[in-house]
Amino acid sequence: MNDMTASTLQRGSLPMSDLPATRGARVEFDHISKDYGDLTVLHETTLTIEAGEFFALIGPSGSGKSTLLGILAGFVPPSYGAVRVDGTDIVAMPPYRRNIGMVFQNYALFPHMTVAENIGFPLKMRGCSRGEIGDRVKKALAMVRLEAMGERRPAQLSGGQQQRVALARAAVYDPRLLLMDEPLGALDKNLREEMQEEIKRFQRAFGATVIYVTHDQQEAAFLADRLAVMRGGMLEQIGSPRQLYEMPGTHFVASFLGEASLLPVAEILAREGREVTVRTPGGLTIRALAPSRVSERRALCLRPENIALGAAAQGRDNRFLGTVEEAVFTTGTLRYRVRLPGSDGLVTVRVPSLPGIELLAPGSSVEIGWDAAMAVTIAED
Ligand SMILES: Nc1ncnc2c1ncn2[C@@H]1O[C@H](COP(=O)(O)OP(=O)(O)OP(=O)(O)O)[C@@H](O)[C@H]1O
Ligand SMILES: [Mg+2]
Repeated sequence: MNDMTASTLQRGSLPMSDLPATRGARVEFDHISKDYGDLTVLHETTLTIEAGEFFALIGPSGSGKSTLLGILAGFVPPSYGAVRVDGTDIVAMPPYRRNIGMVFQNYALFPHMTVAENIGFPLKMRGCSRGEIGDRVKKALAMVRLEAMGERRPAQLSGGQQQRVALARAAVYDPRLLLMDEPLGALDKNLREEMQEEIKRFQRAFGATVIYVTHDQQEAAFLADRLAVMRGGMLEQIGSPRQLYEMPGTHFVASFLGEASLLPVAEILAREGREVTVRTPGGLTIRALAPSRVSERRALCLRPENIALGAAAQGRDNRFLGTVEEAVFTTGTLRYRVRLPGSDGLVTVRVPSLPGIELLAPGSSVEIGWDAAMAVTIAED
């Protein structure tokens, strides 16, 4: 909601949502494309988001996340394709008829209104009585824990409080669908984490379907039931945060979600069930997991916390004598860059920094190891 909507709408001009949000809406993007002149920024995107699901869209800047949300919200007309909400195609429906709650990075609160008036605004537009507005605003304020702040103006609130007002305003009329585009982007780390808890709690209580855009993969993993990684106007992979983290399909997804070391694969030597034995260009023989067709998959993805060092490497399926090149203490973990024997380069290893454990010195030799199930084959891109 922005000032233009505020000034162009008449009191009572919007419908209330027909149903309370006992269940969220189901959203289907059906071959949605968007072109700006010669530039295609969304390529035939097909995606179904289930009722009540918390779905995150992540991806680098310019990958099309906001465009996809804008098409659903009605701000951006698609060049091709359909968008259905609970089975109804909404592409031709004006934005204000869609009953979709929205929260953006810059809050877009009306500065001249109090907090309570801001939250009550969508209800006023829907012609609710003063009494009903009062009741609902009070509930919404309680929901975001700002009971005492109703009479303040946005400028008298902190960034986190303003964002909670924006959340309350987006949810006050029980939309069955809530869109959030980088809602915490302007907040510092601690406040972001606090607000993530808040948003999650809020969504559980509220039951709406949420589509949430963020750059921050940790935030997406914390909040979302499922997420899609976008790249260049396409959905690169969709799955639960854990599926995407543990079984990334591509190099891009592997390195977008968390830290990963990639080892090139020169040759597949053997395959048994889901397990393969591969040889690297540097001559190492490694046992790994191959989730699907192996012919297209040309690299191994290793997560830093899945690699064991020293005595802990004993008995692992894959073991090598490496050389520590870098050793750093970060909060809670010791992070190493270890050079593999041969010419395959470095892997990152992270181990808990328990009290008393000494950091290995750069230059020292160390045994590193991991089980076959800890390395997954992926497509190199
Ligand atoms: N009105 C427009 N005219 C031309 N190109 C546009 C327009 N709006 C967006 N684009 C282009 O579409 C692509 C996708 O933009 P979009 O805003 O969806 O990216 P995003 O994934 O949300 O990025 P960010 O993380 O930076 O917000 C970008 O290349 C952008 O420059
Ligand atoms: Mg964006």
